[in-house]
Amino acid sequence: MTDISLSERISKHPSVRYGLPLAAIAVILLVCRALTGFVSTTTLYILLFPVIVYAALSCGIGPSILAVVAALGGIKYWFISPVHSFRVPHTEQLISMLAFFFASSAVLAMGEARRQHNQRLRDGHAELEVKVQERTVELDTANRSLRDLSARLLQLQDDERRHIARELHDSVGQLLAGLSMNLSSVRADIDRLSRTAAALTDSESLVQEMSQEVRTISHLLHPPLLDEAGLASAVRWYTDGFAQRSKIKVDLDLPANFARFSPELETAVFRIVQECLTNVHRHSGSSIAKIRLLHLDGQVLIEVEDEGKGIPPEKREAMASAGAPGVGIRGMRERIRQLGGVLEITSNDNGTVILARLPAIENSSVADVAPILDTSTVAA
Ligand SMILES: Nc1ncnc2c1ncn2[C@@H]1O[C@H](COP(=O)(O)OP(=O)(O)O)[C@@H](O)[C@H]1O
Ligand SMILES: [Mg+2]
Repeated sequence: MTDISLSERISKHPSVRYGLPLAAIAVILLVCRALTGFVSTTTLYILLFPVIVYAALSCGIGPSILAVVAALGGIKYWFISPVHSFRVPHTEQLISMLAFFFASSAVLAMGEARRQHNQRLRDGHAELEVKVQERTVELDTANRSLRDLSARLLQLQDDERRHIARELHDSVGQLLAGLSMNLSSVRADIDRLSRTAAALTDSESLVQEMSQEVRTISHLLHPPLLDEAGLASAVRWYTDGFAQRSKIKVDLDLPANFARFSPELETAVFRIVQECLTNVHRHSGSSIAKIRLLHLDGQVLIEVEDEGKGIPPEKREAMASAGAPGVGIRGMRERIRQLGGVLEITSNDNGTVILARLPAIENSSVADVAPILDTSTVAA
């Protein structure tokens, strides 16, 4: 790099190109001239040859030829006899000069060839430089347009995103909002429907309960069994239901082959049992009720006994004197009286026994006879 720049610098300045080799030749000639007698012409040729080589390599063809001419001229003029003359010397010296000349010419030719080669290289290099420059410019342009393109792309991307966002908000967003409102209203409907379903289930069970209740009340008001299956079945059915509802243990003594009687008698007996059990539940506080039904000596006997606290004494007195204090017993007595029977009520602190006797008006077979009351009685 440094060599190239040095030789370039030399080749750029003609004074240096010509002056430097000539000055070197002059110095060598002067020094050798001063040392005449100690320096042979061969030594002189050897000393001058590098200068020729240098001129051939670095200074160009013109300075090189001039250097060869100056060297040969100087040698001939100062060192080859006859000195101070340019006349052709004798053969030996001529051959030496010709040898120097041809060697120098060869070096010059090689230097010129090298210089041309270098020149071509330099030209190629410069051409390459230009091409690189052009490519660099093209690359810069391409880079710039790429940058512009990417900026434009980013801009377009932003615009597109903004556009999509607006579209999403305006269309899908609105639809989703509508859908969400629909879903909430469906949810509200479902909640309402499930509440309605629960109310429906409640109502269904209420209706079933009511229907059961109505059926029970209706049967209690007048059990169908009484007409269809007779007194015994109706009393059994009623006492079972009573025991379940009131939690009072009912001990029913009823002959299996209890006869059928007239409808008025059967209804009266059933109502008497019903009223007596109701009183046991309502007034006695007893946990047990014993019922006996007998068909004996042309009479139907009904005995209902409890282990409760008994009828209060004042009511017992009222019953003994003025009649029955309550509607229930009064109605019972009236029914019995109409059928020609009697009612006896026995009551103390250990419980109450109600005994009714009715003349049997049979419809079918006669029932078995069984023993009844032996307690002290209050006439009804
Ligand atoms: N088994 C019983 N044990 C205790 N007290 C009774 C019994 N049965 C009836 N009584 C009393 O006799 C009263 C009259 O009874 P009742 O004529 O059936 O009327 P009601 O039941 O409507 O009060 C009752 O208020 C009650 O004080
Ligand atoms: Mg009563």
